This record gives sequence, C-alpha cells and structure tokens, in this order.
Amino acid sequence: MQNRIEHIAIIMDGNGRWAQKRGLPRLKGHEKGARAALKIVETAKARGISHLTLFAFSSENWNRPREEIDGLFRLLERFIDEEVNRLRDSGVRIHIIGDLSRFSKPLQDKISFTVTTTEANTDLHLAIAMNYGGRDEIVRAVRSLVSSGEKPEGIDEKTFSARLDTAFMPDPDLMIRTGGEWRVSNFLLWQLAYTEIYFTDTLWPDFDERALDDAITWFRARQRRFGKTPEQVEDGMP
Ligand code: FPP
Repeated sequence: MQNRIEHIAIIMDGNGRWAQKRGLPRLKGHEKGARAALKIVETAKARGISHLTLFAFSSENWNRPREEIDGLFRLLERFIDEEVNRLRDSGVRIHIIGDLSRFSKPLQDKISFTVTTTEANTDLHLAIAMNYGGRDEIVRAVRSLVSSGEKPEGIDEKTFSARLDTAFMPDPDLMIRTGGEWRVSNFLLWQLAYTEIYFTDTLWPDFDERALDDAITWFRARQRRFGKTPEQVEDGMP
C-alpha cells in the first residue's frame, strides 16, 4: 500500500549558491527562488497535497548582511502583494508561522490582511515560515501553557501541540531539503518526529515540478513504521 501524503514541508536552500554560480548577486537567487516556490505551490495543489510549509526566513537569518535581509523582506512583501489574489482565487489558504512580533506594524498588517483574505479556502493550506525557529516555537508554546495556568497533569502531547504555530496542520509526512546540506536547521523540531526526510543536491531555484514528483515517488516507497517492527507493518498492524 502506498503512503498517504497530506503535508510536505520544505527547506528551500541554495538560492545564494545558484546566484553566485552565475556571477549574480545573492538576491537574484532569492528572486528566482520565490518563483520556484510559486510553481511548487501550484504543483502541490495539483497533486492533491493539502498542506505545504515553506521555510522562508529563519529566526537565525537575522545574522545575514543587512542588505540581504532587507532584500528578502522586500521580496516576501512583493510576493504577498502580487500573488495574494491569485492564490485566493485558486483555493489556497495562506498561514504565516513564526514569531511575527519582531516585524514592523505595516508588515504585520499586511500579513493579517493576507491571512484573512484567503481564510475561506480549503484546497491547499500554505504555511510560510517567517522569523521561524523550532526551539523558539517550543519556548513560545511553553510560555503560553504556563501563562494560561495549565496544570502539569493537564499537559500531554496533544495539549502541547495545540499551542504550537502549526496547531492547525497534521505533522509533515515528508520534509524536503534542497541545496545538498543534510540537516534540519531548527525547522519544525517537534513536528518532524516521524517525518520522512528527503535531501537533494538540487539548488532551490532549480527545484521544479519534476523534482517534487521525484521526492513524492521516493516517499511513497518508504516503509513508515512509527516505532513498529518491519514485520508488524507488513502484517498491517494498526
Ligand atoms: C536559503 O538559501 C533560502 C533562504 C534563506 C530564503 C528562502 C526564500 C525564498 C525562496 C524566497 C521567498 C519565499 C517565498 C515563500 C515567496 P541560501 O541563501 O541559504 O542559499 P545558499 O545556501 O546557497 O547560500
């Protein structure tokens, strides 16, 4: 039996190297990367994936040169401005995950507008991770539990997950990291517990429809065991 796939999460790595290889400024790589992201959103929807999470800006990316940070934010704002109506009309619901409190008021307003504009859609939930870090998300969830007065005995995996930014999504079935690095880089630390992880050398701007299909094909052939033995899985043990 083939694995069901509801949620794909992606670390879109390799924009800078894609640009540098061509003698272009790094920002050109991010621009091409944003176009690749749009195409992957369309493809994921066409493949019947219900949830897609894209890591656009990590809480550690603030350490990059000011010029690159500003350029990335301009790009993300442009993406929102130019694509929100098209995404709304194509059934995509946009969510932003991460700590948004560090953003300017105009950007926070733009994010709320985007989220509200698409909130009736159900075909594909697109979560864009901005100023997101897995450890930071866990700390914010703990703070939220403590400040609501939750008793220790009232806390379990379910109540904890409900405090995470991703509470509205199932855990990722498949995580893809492009750009040749084999690490998780503080992405969805809690949620990746049983996720199948696919690493590819392809740089993000080159990651196209076919590359996504290759990752999905790889995923479908994986035996997901969730702690059981291979024999138990083969016997169809629930
Ligand atoms: C990692 O490549 C990529 C990022 C830090 C930014 C990702 C952002 C985008 C793809 C653009 C906007 C996204 C959306 C959803 C519209 P890198 O710069 O670390 O590349 P390198 O490892 O080659 O230096």
